[in-house]
Amino acid sequence: MSEQIVGLLALMKRRRSIRAFKSDPVPDAVITNVVEAARWAPSSANSQPWEIVVVRDSKTKEQIQESVKRVIARIKELRDFPFLRTFTGQYLLEAPVQLVIVGDPRFEYVSMMHQVEPNIEQFAFWGSVSMAIQNMLLAVEAQGLASVVFTNFYPEEVKRILSIPDPLQILCILPLGYPNEMKDPRPRRDPNSFLHWEQYDPRKTRSDELIESAHQDPYGVQVKEY
Ligand SMILES: Cc1cc2nc3c(=O)[nH]c(=O)nc-3n(C[C@H](O)[C@H](O)[C@H](O)COP(=O)(O)O)c2cc1C
Repeated sequence: MSEQIVGLLALMKRRRSIRAFKSDPVPDAVITNVVEAARWAPSSANSQPWEIVVVRDSKTKEQIQESVKRVIARIKELRDFPFLRTFTGQYLLEAPVQLVIVGDPRFEYVSMMHQVEPNIEQFAFWGSVSMAIQNMLLAVEAQGLASVVFTNFYPEEVKRILSIPDPLQILCILPLGYPNEMKDPRPRRDPNSFLHWEQYDPRKTRSDELIESAHQDPYGVQVKEY
């Protein structure tokens, strides 16, 4: 194997979702490199339909946190997940930087695929921004910092806080900072369980029971069997 692929796979395997951050400031150069990584992501028709809002101001972060708290309270109302009894999402405030990832869905229709196959055209938007996000996560890891894809907030509220206009959409927040926890990799599916050669093998389709067990998991939707 070439050194490049060995290094790339090692970086990907080392990356974890980190939910505890040190207060050490994040150098501007780190943010510049993360943005550069987003910039080089592939995107539908090279539309590059992303915007990144860098939030460092603690008052703004507090405002966003109010939306996070409301979402957590709402989930608690819907279901009593044991881990949520003490969960506050406080680590978002610990991280010195929040990167708010915004997408511009107006580019969805550039290729006319929406008149051919609507699902594929949706991928133009969600897929393009997601590729930028993954590039960013790897650039964060490569610089010794950490992040997590965070989605537990009311997007419309955060849009108002950050003056983000319609029809732009917030996909997630990436808190950014130096990690204050070490974690082993989470389990991943065996490649043979999702890899199909030439023809799809229906015997590999994950069972409805497995999906149901994930829904029933008392700790939240955590797929435990792969
Ligand atoms: C689309 C997406 C949404 C996610 N939303 C959240 C979230 O709201 N809160 C959170 O703590 N983690 C969130 N995660 C992180 C996942 O829980 C995590 O990636 C997964 O458990 C695998 O763990 P790892 O990233 O450490 O390998 C999200 C990940 C993705 C890709």
